[in-house]
Amino acid sequence: MTHIPVLLAEVLKTLAPQPGEVILDGTFGGGGYARGILQTAPCTLWALDRDADAIARGAALAMEFPGRLHLIEGRFGDMMALLAEQGVTQLDGVVLDLGVSSFQIDTPERGFSFRFDGPLDMRMGQSGPTAADLVNTLGEAELADLIWEFGEERFSRRVARAIVKARTETPFTTTLQLAEVIRRSVPRDPSGIHGATRSFQALRIRVNDELGEIERALDQAMRLLAPGGRLVIVSFHSLEDRLVKRAFQKATGRTPGTSRHDPSMLMAPRAAAPFTLLTPRSIRPGGAETAANPRARSAHLRALQRLPENRAA
Ligand SMILES: C[S@@+](CC[C@H](N)C(=O)[O-])C[C@H]1O[C@@H](n2cnc3c(N)ncnc32)[C@H](O)[C@@H]1O
Repeated sequence: MTHIPVLLAEVLKTLAPQPGEVILDGTFGGGGYARGILQTAPCTLWALDRDADAIARGAALAMEFPGRLHLIEGRFGDMMALLAEQGVTQLDGVVLDLGVSSFQIDTPERGFSFRFDGPLDMRMGQSGPTAADLVNTLGEAELADLIWEFGEERFSRRVARAIVKARTETPFTTTLQLAEVIRRSVPRDPSGIHGATRSFQALRIRVNDELGEIERALDQAMRLLAPGGRLVIVSFHSLEDRLVKRAFQKATGRTPGTSRHDPSMLMAPRAAAPFTLLTPRSIRPGGAETAANPRARSAHLRALQRLPENRAA
């Protein structure tokens, strides 16, 4: 089992590690980006992952690059505190490759997938409530809301009703048990996608507080960037990409909805933005990459840079 890194060449080009720089890979995973960064320039790399298995697998890579790769088990939403504990308060580059790794999704015991049966877990880390805890205890309205909000599932109410009905007979313990109840509660999708796909995405996002993590990480990464430092983010669905896009627009002074014909804008000159966008439009994988790695299909890469000192936008 391997994890094929998505948009690796494009990540290395925008992150552009230089000799002597200090970089953070907030989502170590299978170490694909980490290896690429370490090979590109003689820099120091700090790497986080909330999954203890990913950190344990990284020990071999750390041995290949003695003294240059430092692995920490923890969440990127806590990056500032985790790095401060190590005496790191400024970074020249930060990269985040959001979502789950192939190791996680392809391991039945982790409970992310309905391609095979496994315990209904879905936690990337080892703490907090599992997906089974949520589907067995949340009220019907709360379940419907989360499936709508994080899964963009049009039939969220039907799904929630079916879950609540089924659990009164048998509480949910496995992925296939839940996938089957959900599949039976929604109309067949003409595109052929499994009826439980959106609901599973919603539960995974909620179990891991994925959107909250991204918001905390965006804020902290921008504060940690040294002048000239780059922040590169690869996202895999519209909810993630929207958060990144909006935060980047705000940081670079491109807040949508403000018109230059609006008189209040004339009265209040805009403060000079300390960041500039490196990707005016998100970078998408080409046909060859998506053919070789279907997981890349929905990827969007966005990057920004803190302006070098004395150069405001
Ligand atoms: C798509 S994989 C990264 C793959 C990696 N770029 C590579 O090339 O092998 C995402 C990884 O991020 C980790 N992850 C997701 N959310 C996290 C968070 N909030 N904090 C730390 N790690 C997280 C997951 O556990 C997973 O291992």
